[in-house]
Amino acid sequence: MNINSIQKKPRSRLHSIKIFAPATVANVSCGFDILGFAVDAPGDEVILRLTDTPGVKILEITGDNGKLPLQAAKNTVGASIISMLKFLGSNQGVEIILHKKMPLGSGLGSSAASSAAGAVGLNHLLNTQLTKQQLVTFAMEGERVACGTAHADNVAPAIFGGFTLVRSYNPLDIIPIHTPPELYCSIIHPNIEVSTKAAREILSPSVKLADAVVQWGNVAGLIAGLMSNNYELISRSMQDVIIEPVRQQLIPGFSMIKQAALSNGALGAGISGSGPSIFALSRNIKTAEIVAQAMQHAYNQTHLNSEIYVSKINHNGVTIL
Ligand code: HSE
Repeated sequence: MNINSIQKKPRSRLHSIKIFAPATVANVSCGFDILGFAVDAPGDEVILRLTDTPGVKILEITGDNGKLPLQAAKNTVGASIISMLKFLGSNQGVEIILHKKMPLGSGLGSSAASSAAGAVGLNHLLNTQLTKQQLVTFAMEGERVACGTAHADNVAPAIFGGFTLVRSYNPLDIIPIHTPPELYCSIIHPNIEVSTKAAREILSPSVKLADAVVQWGNVAGLIAGLMSNNYELISRSMQDVIIEPVRQQLIPGFSMIKQAALSNGALGAGISGSGPSIFALSRNIKTAEIVAQAMQHAYNQTHLNSEIYVSKINHNGVTIL
């Protein structure tokens, strides 16, 4: 048989899938709204089902203490799916079950995980074969619903996996960035909530030119360090002179925790997304584990509870279970 005469068989249509969507660390110190990476844990689980009745419905949400809206248009996963169906001109019915397995308002990309799961899951169910970058645009609508701004620095790594750079928002241009093989992340999540909306409202809309020069030097240095496996350069570049000095007031014990990470061998540390979680990058898992313990030990002095996570950079992003 002539190879050219073989027809590609359309995949038989799936009706239901379960999806895992990972937590993400956005900003990575110097890259406010443009840098982020995915981690292995924690993460959300989402079940999507196609139905014959048009409309997007959330049937159940667990793990949110009743805090998330069940109305699809107001929920990140629903908003992401609605935006994708609109783009496709489809009135396909979709039912959603959302198992939140990470804390809300944690700075770990909780809203992004659900949004990303919605876009990737629907793409898979409908076999629409949209590009990852297209899926990011739908997931960004989930972020808009969650905090008022359609930022992409959490949804891009959740969908692409690995470390990503949002080179431009208009037009959207996502660049996957190589990460060195021995790079590990430690995260401490203090048991307090910080709303991304509130953490954005305290930021000044303008920056001093001298600070901008320092910041874009560090962004370029961090990318160069990641791409050339230069751990020393990564370490020197993990400085944020614009956002961290303002936001650290929202996190009790921030300086102590950061100092504990650095003095226990971390390459660098900073606020994860809009906080309150704090992340550190280390060269090898052993150091990352010591750093996580040290951060938690320092935070214990505030007499507040916390969880810690240690993970390699997650290169898979959202996965179908
Ligand atoms: N870049 C966003 C911010 C991330 O820092 O506000 C929010 O998770």
